[in-house]
Amino acid sequence: MPDRPRFGILISGRGSNMVALVEAATRGEIPAEPGVVISNVPSAPGLELARQRGVETLVLRHRDFPTREDFDRAVVEALRRRRVELVCLAGFMRLLSPLFLESFPQRVLNIHPSLLPAFPGLEVQRKALEHGVKVSGCTVHFVDQELDGGPIVVQRAVEVAEEDTAESLAARILEQEHRIYPLAVRWFFEGRLRVEGRRVRVLPPGGAAVR
Ligand code: GRF
Repeated sequence: MPDRPRFGILISGRGSNMVALVEAATRGEIPAEPGVVISNVPSAPGLELARQRGVETLVLRHRDFPTREDFDRAVVEALRRRRVELVCLAGFMRLLSPLFLESFPQRVLNIHPSLLPAFPGLEVQRKALEHGVKVSGCTVHFVDQELDGGPIVVQRAVEVAEEDTAESLAARILEQEHRIYPLAVRWFFEGRLRVEGRRVRVLPPGGAAVR
């Protein structure tokens, strides 16, 4: 059987979305396999979770590189060496340079815990509660130059409860993150995603492959 295509996952911390992707691939719900998990933070708890699941891990500390481009070049090289076709950011706390994005054009996905374009950036649930929204959620999107700004692949809404704290809301959103991220990666490898400007069309199953 020919090798399955590979995706890489970049993390900086807990790694629960990374685990959701790895386990979905193991269950055969994604027609691809995780080729490597890379962290820019050596103490990221997700590294051990990846190893326990038999996925190769690599630490590249951004501080060890003189510039953002040098760091990004090293990450790109590590991904290419493992023949990674798609890069999934999963709680990766670094902005990517044009050099990185040009190396993987329309091949970098991110997950964000709000219904973008509402509440990009950090401390998202606190901002959502302070704003008084009644519905929040999560978004998987292609990454472009703008922070949390690229074309949206899939979103899932989560209702805000009266008694919600940032933590309780984050926990309910995270459950949905773990569902929609594997779905988006699956669609990508099924060749079903078409980016048309800001819009991403999801083709029905069996549509012509783009890869
Ligand atoms: C998630 O909420 C994700 O949406 C955001 O960072 C968090 C990462 O959590 N980008 P984890 O490391 O995947 O558990």
